[in-house]
Amino acid sequence: MKELKEHKLLEAAAAVRENAYAPYSGFAVGAALLTDSGRVFVGCNVENGAFAPSLCAERAAVAAAVAAGEREFAAIAVIADGSDYCYPCGVCRQVLSEFCDDAFVIFAAKTVRDFKVYRLEELLPHGFSLREDGE
Ligand code: THU
Repeated sequence: MKELKEHKLLEAAAAVRENAYAPYSGFAVGAALLTDSGRVFVGCNVENGAFAPSLCAERAAVAAAVAAGEREFAAIAVIADGSDYCYPCGVCRQVLSEFCDDAFVIFAAKTVRDFKVYRLEELLPHGFSLREDGE
């Protein structure tokens, strides 16, 4: 993936983070998902007073992409408050694995210029799948 695309994805995640609804945790998260077809879908966390229905930024981005007819993803950038690198939670890793192969790239960002790069297989080894391709 080219430097320019990484930067674009990180900027998109940082921008949508501004829309996060996180009055309970105070922890705003932004995610930008790149599809294999080259489109970018964004998501932010949307919390709820009942807590359990709260939605993570990554899953919001996945839902937006799937609703637009996209099912094959290449990469995601995730960014929070800059205090540390922001990694997708376990539930989000599992949700991403439904639509991604092991080559899927995760940019866990502290800032738009300071991020770590992982493959999904590093963050979710032996993830559960009912897909017939076994991935
Ligand atoms: N959060 C995300 O949006 N993505 C993650 O991968 C981890 C956690 C959100 C959920 C909640 O609104 C807040 O961060 C604190 O957990």
